[in-house]
Amino acid sequence: MARCISKFGVISIILCTFSFFLLDFYSKSKCLESCTTVHGKVEVARDVKNNLNKALEKENPLEREKDLEREKQLERQKELEREKQLKRERELEREKQLEREKQLEREKQFEREKELERQKQLEREKELERQKIAEAEHLHKIWLHQRQGAQSRLRFANRYGVWNEHMSSKDILPRLVMVKKSYQSENKYKVKYQGKLGQLLTPQELLCAIKTKVNISTLVTADLPQNADSWSQYLPRKTLQEEVKSLGKCAVVSSAGSIKHSRLGQEIDTHDAVLRFNAAPVLGYQADVGTKTTFRLLNSQLVSRPELKFLEDPLYKEGSLIMWDPAPYNANVEEWHKNPDYKFFERYSEYRRRNPEQMFYVLNPHAAWQLWDIIQQNAPEDINPGPPSSGLLGILLMMNLCDQVNVYEFLPSRRQSDLCHYYERYQDRACTLGAYHPLMYEKNLVKKLNLGDDNSIFHFGRITLPGLRGLQC
Ligand SMILES: *[C@@H]1O[C@H](CO)[C@@H](O)[C@H](O)[C@H]1NC(C)=O
Repeated sequence: MARCISKFGVISIILCTFSFFLLDFYSKSKCLESCTTVHGKVEVARDVKNNLNKALEKENPLEREKDLEREKQLERQKELEREKQLKRERELEREKQLEREKQLEREKQFEREKELERQKQLEREKELERQKIAEAEHLHKIWLHQRQGAQSRLRFANRYGVWNEHMSSKDILPRLVMVKKSYQSENKYKVKYQGKLGQLLTPQELLCAIKTKVNISTLVTADLPQNADSWSQYLPRKTLQEEVKSLGKCAVVSSAGSIKHSRLGQEIDTHDAVLRFNAAPVLGYQADVGTKTTFRLLNSQLVSRPELKFLEDPLYKEGSLIMWDPAPYNANVEEWHKNPDYKFFERYSEYRRRNPEQMFYVLNPHAAWQLWDIIQQNAPEDINPGPPSSGLLGILLMMNLCDQVNVYEFLPSRRQSDLCHYYERYQDRACTLGAYHPLMYEKNLVKKLNLGDDNSIFHFGRITLPGLRGLQC
């Protein structure tokens, strides 16, 4: 029977059932055994009958309606299911949206915190700045206080401490008077002063005398005779004054031993231009003498003597160089050229060939003796018959180029000693008061011209002189 079902489908089932009924009907007793053996148990047959009934029922319209109903039900369920799904998706979407919003919120929060942190940092920096200013003000007050103290001490110190403009032979060591006399008797430069001594010139008159009578310009090739061509061709094309035109605040830094431990370096560096002398070094002394070198005034001895290493020493490579050589008293350029103090020509040319880019001027030889005359005119006694010091020539040069000139340690401060140069050990009172140069009388003269106060001399060795350009004479 099962075989029939599987093999012939519903029709064979119908046939089988039918035959079963027939057989059943025909003879229960006769056929029973064979049926049982062929088709299995009776119960199985009953199941088949039920199935058949069900299959038949399907043909029934009522059943079809039920089926339709069920299908609709299913459809509705599916619809519901889809709606649920949609809801879930919407729910998810909303959650994601929320998540994104939260994320944005968090980011905004982070930004706000960063901004706050930044503002706090700014506040801290401002606070630091305020503290710094307060500190500076405090220091300034202390400084003012100290200065007032120093000024009251100075009133006492000034009686003998700071250079006074009436120094003369009777104020100096007998030894130095002797040296001066020996120079006078030798009179190497054939000095023959024709003017008056000790004229009572006002500072203004002195300044005008300097401005109108001292020709402090530098030489150009045309100023020299033809036979000087071998070296004069190396002179700069323009004079120093033409090249520089005008400067504001300038510093002249003397080489005096008293500038040692002065701590003036920073102040000196604030000037527009700084003039130094001869072999005065910067390296190793910056705190006291500053770092800037705009001009260096050299004597011809330094340039001429090979053992002084002028050609090799890197010290001379910074700034513009200006050299001077003492001529005989009132000699013109030609006479000077025949009879210079030092024969610098060859080494000057050599330096120029090696350093063609660096300006290297030679001072008009008239300048020194024109200036000497004014020093003598201002002094009540005969002054030393040697040319003025490089120091005073340098001061004059800068008064010519600048609006204002601060000179350091030309008039000695409270650090005054016999130490000749801040970079050497050699000590001699003559380095302050002069022997060869009329140094004492030079100092009397600049003391008279000083625009600053004694306090500045005492503490900083500083005098302030006016530029000559603006001067009405
Ligand atoms: C000043 O000296 C220069 C040479 O350095 C010369 O050319 C000029 O003529 C002189 N000026 C006066 C007014 O003597």
